Amino acid sequence: MAEDRQTEVRGAFDAAAADFTALGRHLWEPIGAAAVAVADPKPGERVLDACCGTGASAIPSARLVGVDGHVDAVDLSGPMVDELRRLSTGLPQLHAHQADVTTWPGEGYDVVQSALGIFFFPDMTAGTDHLISRARPGGRAVFTIWRGEAMVAAGRHLGLAIAEVTNTPVPAPRPPHLIDEVNQADTYAAWLTGRGLADVEVTVHELALTMTPEVAWLVVVGSGFRGALAKVPAELVADVRERYLTSLGEACLEELDATTLIGSGRR
Ligand SMILES: C[S@@+](CC[C@H](N)C(=O)[O-])C[C@H]1O[C@@H](n2cnc3c(N)ncnc32)[C@H](O)[C@@H]1O
Repeated sequence: MAEDRQTEVRGAFDAAAADFTALGRHLWEPIGAAAVAVADPKPGERVLDACCGTGASAIPSARLVGVDGHVDAVDLSGPMVDELRRLSTGLPQLHAHQADVTTWPGEGYDVVQSALGIFFFPDMTAGTDHLISRARPGGRAVFTIWRGEAMVAAGRHLGLAIAEVTNTPVPAPRPPHLIDEVNQADTYAAWLTGRGLADVEVTVHELALTMTPEVAWLVVVGSGFRGALAKVPAELVADVRERYLTSLGEACLEELDATTLIGSGRR
């Protein structure tokens, strides 16, 4: 079951890699920059960037640690890692690895960070505990998650569009997940404190995406939502796009909440 989930996550992001970069300007980069501002890597420090994607937090971290520092950027998806390597030429301190970060063996990092990754782990708590264990004693851990219902509306309209175009039932809501219980600043802070971190703080990073047709479709093809398109026959994808955009318009959804919670603490 855990392996099926891992394969599903990897498949969604493998397919999304190129469009992921295009969406990055609107979404991943501002979110990554805000997370790095909290983590505040210093020249010469060692950073583990878990679930690095195409480098929204790994690349600015590599710039901050400089050539005397070291960033290990780890992602399950080969195409994401390839894209990161392409984007990070000229940053020899950034080392991109394709691996499951929940079993990453490196340790002693000054900073361990993950932007929008920990809720994909088959066991979010065990995976996060493993990441924290990779920091040196006194090192910083910084994990970013979506706040509350952020991004959910896009998934709902996409699900409705796919069901209508493919004449299949509307997908059932996903089963309850730990993230539903910890996606507010206070509950997230309590959960991080429960992980043994000291000096826990949660920073709210407000963001609203203006849903032009271009951005609204990039939200589908350049994110984990891409996985939902995998079962749609290629000749119907344009119809799904059309129906999805119409559905957003009917709901007057001009802005998508993309607010994140940046949780930080010390090991
Ligand atoms: C929403 S993306 C975020 C990427 C990046 N941190 C950013 O903010 O742009 C989530 C990423 O987590 C990766 N991922 C999920 N589970 C993982 C695991 N167990 N080990 C490594 N990467 C994982 C996915 O492949 C995907 O690239």
